[in-house]
Amino acid sequence: MQTHEIRERFIQHFVSAGHTEVPSAPLILDDPTLLFVNAGMVPFKPYFLGQQNPPFANGTATSIQKCVRTLDIEEVGITTRHNTFFQMAGNFSFGQYFKQGAIEHAWGLLTGSVESGGYGLDPERLWVTVYLDDDEAANIWRDVIGIPEQRIQRLGMADNYWSMGIPGPCGPCSEIYYDRGPAYGVEGGPIADDTRYMEIWNLVFMENERGEGTGKDNFEILGPLPKKNIDTGLGIERVACILQGVDNVYETDLLRPVIDAAISLTGATYGANHADDVRFRVIADHSRTGMMLMLDGVTPGNEGRGYILRRLLRRIIRSARLLGANGATMEVFMNTIMDTMTPSYPEIADARERIIRTAVAEERAFLRTLESGTHLFTQVAQEAKAAGQSTLAGEKAFTLHDTYGFPIDLTLEMASEQGLEVDREGFEALMAEQRARAKADNKAKKTGGADVSVYRQFVDEHPTHFTGYTQLADEAQVLGLVAGGQLLHTAEEGDEVEVILDTTPMYAEGGGQLGDRGTITVGDTLLTVEDVQKVGKKLWIHRATVTRGAIEVGQQAIATVDPTWRHQARQAHSATHLIHGALREILGPTAVQAGSMNKPGYLRFDFNYTDPLTPEQLARIEALTNEVVDADYQVNTFETSLAEAKAMGAMALFGENYGDVVRVVEIAGDFSRELCGGTHVGHASQIGPVTLLGESSVGSGVRRIEAYSGLDSMGYLSNQRHLAAHTATLLKTPTDELPDRVAQLSEKLRAAEKQLAQLRKQQLQQQAGAFVDTAITVGDVAVVTELLDGVSGGDLRQIATDIKARFGSRAAVIALGADENGKAPFIVACTPAAVDKDIKAGDLVKEMSRFVDGRGGGKADMAQGSGTRAAGFNDAFAAVRTAVAAH
Ligand code: SER
Repeated sequence: MQTHEIRERFIQHFVSAGHTEVPSAPLILDDPTLLFVNAGMVPFKPYFLGQQNPPFANGTATSIQKCVRTLDIEEVGITTRHNTFFQMAGNFSFGQYFKQGAIEHAWGLLTGSVESGGYGLDPERLWVTVYLDDDEAANIWRDVIGIPEQRIQRLGMADNYWSMGIPGPCGPCSEIYYDRGPAYGVEGGPIADDTRYMEIWNLVFMENERGEGTGKDNFEILGPLPKKNIDTGLGIERVACILQGVDNVYETDLLRPVIDAAISLTGATYGANHADDVRFRVIADHSRTGMMLMLDGVTPGNEGRGYILRRLLRRIIRSARLLGANGATMEVFMNTIMDTMTPSYPEIADARERIIRTAVAEERAFLRTLESGTHLFTQVAQEAKAAGQSTLAGEKAFTLHDTYGFPIDLTLEMASEQGLEVDREGFEALMAEQRARAKADNKAKKTGGADVSVYRQFVDEHPTHFTGYTQLADEAQVLGLVAGGQLLHTAEEGDEVEVILDTTPMYAEGGGQLGDRGTITVGDTLLTVEDVQKVGKKLWIHRATVTRGAIEVGQQAIATVDPTWRHQARQAHSATHLIHGALREILGPTAVQAGSMNKPGYLRFDFNYTDPLTPEQLARIEALTNEVVDADYQVNTFETSLAEAKAMGAMALFGENYGDVVRVVEIAGDFSRELCGGTHVGHASQIGPVTLLGESSVGSGVRRIEAYSGLDSMGYLSNQRHLAAHTATLLKTPTDELPDRVAQLSEKLRAAEKQLAQLRKQQLQQQAGAFVDTAITVGDVAVVTELLDGVSGGDLRQIATDIKARFGSRAAVIALGADENGKAPFIVACTPAAVDKDIKAGDLVKEMSRFVDGRGGGKADMAQGSGTRAAGFNDAFAAVRTAVAAH
C-alpha cells in the first residue's frame, strides 16, 4: 500500500467517525520552546489545556502533521526506524471519548480489512504496552479487544507516560507494536526488543498537566486538566515500512527513489556494506527533511533552524561524496524527493524552483569549502608523510573541521586513502574543549538575561491586553517588576527594571518591527521605556529605567508611546510590506520573504533569490513602491481565520496555527496582503518617500534590500543632493553635468599621466649620453651602474638598449635598477665586445638578485630581473663591478 493511500485511509477512518479533518500546521510555529513541530498534538495544545475551546463540530479532530526531530540525527540510517522528518497521523478528542474509544478506533483501523478501508494487519502480530498501574487500559485491551494477557506489557514513566518534555498537557499512554518476526530480533515483546517489535501507534490519555522538571520521568504533575482528552500518534512511515514489506523506513515508496538516484549518481552499490548503506539512507532521509524545511520557509544559516537545515544539506553532500560522487548531486535529490512528496503536499509545485535554487546554492558553497579544505588536507598529509609520520595530528583535523567546516569522517576517509591515520583522541579533546567554551559562553549569556521562569505565572494568569492599535496612551496597573531574573516589589531612581503591566499601548518587538519607546508614569515618577519584548505570544515586558522617583507593584500608571517613534515605525513597517509586494511583482513569486527588520525611518528586507539584483530592477522596485505610496491606498487591517486568510492569498510563512484568528494587513488589494501583527499607517501616502539604499547578499540564496522611509528618506536624499552640489561647485560645473565632467576629468588625468611618463622616458634617454660619460672602467670594460626613480621594467629595457648602442664596439656592461613603488626591477645589458670576453648579462642579473631579494634571468647580451628591496641596489651594483673585474 502506497504511503499516500495509508494517509488517506487514516483520515477517512476518523472523518467517517465524525472527526474534523485539520490540515497539517507548518513545521515552524511561533513558540520559542520548539524549534520545529515534533508531534501531532502541538497545534492543539491550547485546547488540551482548556485555554481555548476547540473549534471542531464534535469536539474531535484528525490530522496528519508534518514533524521534524533532529535530536537523533546520528542514528539516521543506522537503525531501521529513525526519520528526521516524519508524518504523524493522529486522532484527538477534547473531552469526548477517552481510553476505550481511542483503543477501539485504533484497533479498528489497524486490523480492519483492506477492502473495508483498514490496514489489514494480522491481529496476532500486534502487542501493546500500558502504563504501570493503568489497569483500566489493560482491561480494555484484554476484555473489549480480546488481546491475550501475555501480549499486554507494562512499562514505567519513561516509556508510557507522555509529555512534551516541557510544562504542558501529559498523561499515561498505551503503545501498539507490530512483531516483524524472528529475523529482526529476539522474542519476548516490546520490553525485550524494540527493533523486532516496532512501535507504530501511541495513544495518549491526556488528563494531567505537567510542571517544571527534566526529561521524560523527572517532573511534577500539577493536577488534572479541565477535561480528559485523547491524543494519538501513528507513524505513517513505520506503517508504510510494514505494509510495503521493506526492511526499514528508508526503503518505502517515498524515500527509496532517492536511494536509487544516489546509486546511479555515485556508482556505489546499495546493500554491499553497512557504512555505505547508512550513507544512502542519510541522503534519502535528509533530502526529504531538508526539502520540507525549505518548503516551510527555512533557509540555510548559521544559527537555530537555519543551521539545522545547513547541517542536513551538508550531510547529504558529504555522504554522496563518500559514496563516490564527484560533482553536484543536490538538484537530482531534490527533484526526486519532490516528485514522491508532491501527491501528499501539492504546495511543493509552487515552491519547487525556490527549493532547488536554495539547495543548489548551498551545495555550491559547501563544495567550495570542501575544495579549500581538501587543499589544506593535501598539504598537511604531504607534510606528515615527508616527516615520516603515519598519523595526522588531531590539531590538524580540528583546524580542518573548525576553519573549513571539514567533517571529521571525510578527513578520516581521505587520510586512509593516503595510508594515514588520524589522531582521533587529540581531535576529540580539542572538540570537547571548544564545546566547553561554548557552554560557558551560553551560561554567561543566560545569567545576563533573565531566567524566563519568573514570567510563567504572568503568562498564564495575566496575559497583557494590548491597546496600541488604536491608542498611544493608556492607563495600566503595574503587575510585576523584574530585575536579573528576580521579582521585585519596588524599583528606585536609576534602576533598570522590566515592567509588566495589565494593559499597554506599547508595541512589543515582533514580525520584524522593533518594540516601541515611550514612558511609564505614576504621578511624578517617570520610567523611560527603552524596549518592549514579548514572552511567548501574550506577555509584554517593558524594559525601562527609572528616571525619576520610585515605582511599586500594584500602582496605577500611565503608559505612553513616544508618538514620533511610533509614527516613523509605522511608516517603515508599511514600507516593508510595499517593497515585498513590489519585489514579488518584479522578480516573481519565488522571491519569498526570509526575514525583515524595521524601525523608525529604516527597514531591511531579506528574501530568497540567488542572483544579485540589477540597478534596473532596483529602480523599478523603488518606483513601484513610491507609486503605491502616491496612490494613497487605504491600509486595511482586519481579523479572520487562517484558512480564510490563506484563501485570500495572504502571505504567511511562519507562526500561524490552524484555528487561530489572524490579523491581515492589506494595501492596494492583491498587491500586498500579509498576515501581520505590526502597526501600520492608515493611508499609503502617510509612509512618505521610500528610498532604496541598495541590495547585498546575506548568505547563500538570500538577498537583502535596505531602505529609508519618511523623513529619513528625505534626509538621505537631501544629503545626497548636498554632496552632489558640493562636488559640482568644486568642479565648477552644473550638477546634471557632473557625470560627464568627472568622466572628462579622469580621461584628462589618464592622458596627463601617460604624457608625463613619456616625458620622463625622453629625459632619461637624453641622459643616456651622460651615463656613457660617467661610466667607470673596470679592466678594459666600461661599466655603467645607475639607480633610476619611478621607471618601469619595460622602460628600463629601452634605456639600457639605448646606452648600450652608444658604446658601439667598446666592451661595456650596463646595469640599471629602479625603485618603483616598493618593487625593484633591474636590468643588465652587455655589448657584443663584452660578451666576447665571456661576460654574461644573465649571470650578472642572478648576482644582483641576491642583494635585492629578487630573481631574474636572460641571455648573455640582455637579462632582466625583479626584486622587492631597492635598498640593496648599491651592493648589487658593487657585485656587478666585482664580477666584471674577475674577467
Ligand atoms: N503526542 C504523542 C507522541 O508524540 C502521541 O501523538 O507520541
